[in-house]
Amino acid sequence: MRFVRDDEVASAIPMREVIDAVERGFALYSLRRVRMPQRVRTDVPEHNGAILLMPCLVPELEVYSVKYVTVYPDNPSRGLPTIFAALLISDPRTGEPKVLAEARAATGLRTGAATAVSIKHLARRDAENLGIIGCGYQARWQLRAAAEVMRCSAVRAYDVVRQRAEELASEASRELGLEVRVSDTAEEVVRRSDVVITATTSRTPFVKKQWVRPGTHFSAIGAFTPDMAELEAELVASSKVYVDSLEAAKEEAGDIIQAVAKGLMRWEDVRAEIGEVVAGLKKGRENDEEVTVFKSVGIAVQDAAVAALILRHLGE
Ligand SMILES: NC(=O)c1ccc[n+]([C@@H]2O[C@H](COP(=O)([O-])OP(=O)(O)OC[C@H]3O[C@@H](n4cnc5c(N)ncnc54)[C@H](O)[C@@H]3O)[C@@H](O)[C@H]2O)c1
Repeated sequence: MRFVRDDEVASAIPMREVIDAVERGFALYSLRRVRMPQRVRTDVPEHNGAILLMPCLVPELEVYSVKYVTVYPDNPSRGLPTIFAALLISDPRTGEPKVLAEARAATGLRTGAATAVSIKHLARRDAENLGIIGCGYQARWQLRAAAEVMRCSAVRAYDVVRQRAEELASEASRELGLEVRVSDTAEEVVRRSDVVITATTSRTPFVKKQWVRPGTHFSAIGAFTPDMAELEAELVASSKVYVDSLEAAKEEAGDIIQAVAKGLMRWEDVRAEIGEVVAGLKKGRENDEEVTVFKSVGIAVQDAAVAALILRHLGE
């Protein structure tokens, strides 16, 4: 079995390929052509952490992968990343483990790709102002992915810790040639963006409906438990909402769970899984006025899609 480091994944796997692979993975998932048990979460409340196990078999890609991923929001104050991850990739024809890969970069790649797929199908065609709220590790990959699928004539970033937004801005200028302006408030980012990505560890919703212009697209990737949310319930309930997996969203997507609990919307109001839109079964954006929300909690088929690319580029 080969061991693959994060830096190898980051340099060998092009974001463009990940976007295509994740797009196809979402479609296969929604067409029920993958075998993906719900992820298993073990809470570690004494350390404000969670440990997740995410298995998925994709027969058409001849890949099985299981990701171990941890989320410890207090880690940055200890000088450690919020997320650690490892991906075990095996050959489903024999069950033989082929690769054990560090998977922070793989997680960044596939989560960025999910946002890119949502922008492709749900953002306005003329969207060119990008906003990002939450400027941690995922934000790097989110920007990289969004820049693959939309013209970013202006990019604005906000983080409760201003220095994180400033670091993201200088990194984006150096590595992606993107000029990122640091905003003083989340409100400014939302008011001036056509596409808004939220990638925070916030437990309480902070994006208000009254800030939102018609035609805005949101990709909310941060919250992954019922008691976490980034978008206020009124905004979610008044938007066209798409998810990565309806089954997973009902368990984990705090932004929607809270809107439903408040009686502002029903689960039937969720328009579609993004894979249904990719597969042509359901409609994406229908006009330039509607506000669209893609709520992603992250599903194992995205990791399996990257796993197939890791096997192809780094397997031997
Ligand atoms: N949907 C998915 O597939 C997926 C995948 C990976 C990570 N995540 C989630 O994304 C979140 C971010 O992950 P990360 O690795 O980037 O974490 P991180 O700690 O590196 O970054 C989070 C950033 O959000 C900022 N922040 C927190 N609350 C904020 C607020 N109210 N307004 C503005 N900024 C705020 C923090 O200061 C920090 O810089 C986590 O909750 C993680 O679980 C989701």
